[in-house]
Amino acid sequence: MKIRALVDGIERAAVLDRPGNRLQSVVTKVLRGRVRDLLHGVWLGHPIHPIVVLVPIGSWLSASLLDVLRINHKAPTALVGAGSAGAVAAAITGLNDWSSLTREQRRTGLVHATVNTIALGLQVASLAARRRGDLRTARWLSYAGLATVGFGGYLGGHLSYRQAASVNQAEPLLRRIPEGWHAVCDLEALTPGRPQVHHIDEVPVLVVRNSNDDVTVMIERCGHETGPLGEGEVRHIDGADCVVCPWHGSTFRLTDGIAVHGPAATTQPLLRSRVRDGLVEAALP
Ligand code: FES
Repeated sequence: MKIRALVDGIERAAVLDRPGNRLQSVVTKVLRGRVRDLLHGVWLGHPIHPIVVLVPIGSWLSASLLDVLRINHKAPTALVGAGSAGAVAAAITGLNDWSSLTREQRRTGLVHATVNTIALGLQVASLAARRRGDLRTARWLSYAGLATVGFGGYLGGHLSYRQAASVNQAEPLLRRIPEGWHAVCDLEALTPGRPQVHHIDEVPVLVVRNSNDDVTVMIERCGHETGPLGEGEVRHIDGADCVVCPWHGSTFRLTDGIAVHGPAATTQPLLRSRVRDGLVEAALP
């Protein structure tokens, strides 16, 4: 399939790294702190870019259907306008997520963003043509914009389903742990607030003894891009003890695994834990 060869080539295209690095530096300078968390979807517990993209895709598709059926010319104009505004919001949330991806993912993401920007340009040109009453040109521009955003969507799907961008990378590890209780380590070997890495059936888990002597057992690979939480710091943030990923700074509460700072938006999987005869044990939640 030629399209597969094309997207494989995009992943390997080192020529995209220079413009990508420049754009990444601009994005990380402009979008910071709580704004980044908001755009990542930390407040929602889920990335919001896949939700926001429904606005332009749905609006532009509906406009084109009405254009094909020649039902009404006012509604398509409103839909193209709404879709174009939604595309700007989708671009901002997407760029924010993109800036914390791996190099190969950023290459695909850069082409995905460029294609979608072209689609937005075509729809804005269509809107201008509709305003001056040139409906024939407007319709063809909208059809071209819709086809272009379709290819952009294909690249977005490739990023998520093939390159696993913005999916919870820790969840598959949780599923490799067998049912039942597993011995993890001696309680006395743990110093409060100092994380250790142990393994349950070769799955790395982060073990932290809390000040009240209960123990957090969490999947050790960060849900964002598998960063080693065992090399991260435990810090008191927003009134709770948290572990901070050393790679991109995702911050997870030790009590429940909830992400309090992104780029990870999803909860880091936690295991149930108990102490029996001085031995820390863990089981699937
Ligand atoms: S791997 Fe990116 S924040 Fe942990």
